Amino acid sequence: MPNNSGVSFYSTTPIFYVNDAPHIGHAYTEVATDVLTRWHRQRGENAFMLTGTDEHGEKILRTAAANDTSPKEWADKLVAEAWLPLLDTIDIDNQDFIRTTEPRHEVNVQKFLQRLYDTGFIYRGEYEGNYCVGCEEYKTENDLLPGEGQFEGQDVCAIHSKPVEKLAETNYFFKLSEFQQKLLDFYEANPKFVQPESARNEVISFVRRGLDDLSISRSKEKFDWGIDIPWDDSHITYVWFDALLNYITAIGYGSDEPELKARFEQLWPASVQVVGKDILRFHAVIWPAMLMAADLPPAKRVFGHGWLLVGGEKMSKSKLTGIAPSQITDTFGSDAFRYYFMKAIAFGQDGSFSWEDLSARYQAELANGFGNLASRALAMVNKYFEGVVPAAGALTEIDQQVVAVAAKAVADADAAIEEIAIQDALNAIWTLVDELNNYITVTEPWVLAKDEANRERLATVMYVITEGLRVLSILLAPVIPKATAKLWSALALDSLGALSNQTIASAGVWGGIKSGSKLGALEPLFPRIEQE
Ligand code: ME8
Ligand code: MG
Repeated sequence: MPNNSGVSFYSTTPIFYVNDAPHIGHAYTEVATDVLTRWHRQRGENAFMLTGTDEHGEKILRTAAANDTSPKEWADKLVAEAWLPLLDTIDIDNQDFIRTTEPRHEVNVQKFLQRLYDTGFIYRGEYEGNYCVGCEEYKTENDLLPGEGQFEGQDVCAIHSKPVEKLAETNYFFKLSEFQQKLLDFYEANPKFVQPESARNEVISFVRRGLDDLSISRSKEKFDWGIDIPWDDSHITYVWFDALLNYITAIGYGSDEPELKARFEQLWPASVQVVGKDILRFHAVIWPAMLMAADLPPAKRVFGHGWLLVGGEKMSKSKLTGIAPSQITDTFGSDAFRYYFMKAIAFGQDGSFSWEDLSARYQAELANGFGNLASRALAMVNKYFEGVVPAAGALTEIDQQVVAVAAKAVADADAAIEEIAIQDALNAIWTLVDELNNYITVTEPWVLAKDEANRERLATVMYVITEGLRVLSILLAPVIPKATAKLWSALALDSLGALSNQTIASAGVWGGIKSGSKLGALEPLFPRIEQE
């Protein structure tokens, strides 16, 4: 792996259940993680993004049965037909994709379990409680609501509105209760571990209330779609214990292969684990405790993002409110999908999706704001300088202002990404889009072009605009990789190397575009969408 800085960046998404096809909520997590990772790669870091699928558990088993197939066949089909294609649909540049049914995962989950059993963190006990198959989670009384309608008289899960199941069995338990103080100390010492701040507070008060030991196995008499407990093959692991370990099995935990061992050393602890707030506790409480029990460090950060809402409700597979990502990308393209969700919603907060808002932003921000800027700029260089970037004369005050806005956009966007504030980063970058549009209005190149005496001034103005577009291409590449790659080529910048290899730092150094280069053609970056 190329690595200029010696710094590694390892990012993860949740691994998604294969009970159904993805909707835009899953795509949202993927895009945000991909944008962060691409940005870090453009910082020159060795950036590695992991995503994948969670294929064990009762929920998948039941879905497969309902579809008259085996769980593995069902998972294979969903992965091939839905989950892998999603990554293409929304242009995700992940370095690995893990499935929990792969041997590299199963074998090392067993190693991990055995280690915790041998060191006394796992014991056998009796369990009685309520289980929600939708959540694949044991529920406390506080998580339940009285059922309504057909479920009148029963306790239902507050998230799925379906009855929970009473379980009474002999299980293996993880001594989660032993980690209360260690976790609180860890949160204290690592104030950025759980983000955003609201999520951190929620997690800390949850842990302060006390932690129960966690049942981590199910008897095979009930169902057997899971990984065998290595010392007792009448039990399989609890789906979450299995699933959380993907983040380390994928990068070589437990492996004896030198290359994988080195990868694990290099990438763990993860730089950021992006999850929806629905599964924050698993990632910010149970997962770090599991790692501590195995003498491994927790991730550096866990970011719990908000929910995409439709009609005020969380979009969900089980409630049939899901919108398929391709419904959006078929019309607007993957760049617009990526841009829209990163720009319209503050990362960390809930956001309502609407077609109107998407169309309006596509037209105003992408087509008119950025796309038009690029096509106008190239058209003017073609018209006034036969498509050759002219040399700039001395910069005047208004030119210097563009230089300053560009430098500030680079610095502010980079600082925002450091804080996982993707919307702020885009707002910072957009100050340069606005500045360049304004610059064209004020300098009026078409007026300058009328008088040969203004030739040098016109050349300077063209240089400033095309150089501004170079900066924008680099800064926007992590968000809209396709459009910016086209612009990069049209600006004849391929001689500097592929756009994805340009560093963020290089965007901040004025003068990267070479005078004398011959610009190429540029098709419209964000074409007009016919109204239905
Ligand atoms: O929980 N808005 O998988 P899952 C935003 N397999 N994000 C959403 C969303 C919405 N409306 N709906 C889903 C699981 N998501 C486990 C995870 S990890 C070791 C195991 C996204 O298929 C968001 O990232 O139910 C959420 O956390 C995730 O999908 C849940 O996916
Ligand atoms: Mg879910």
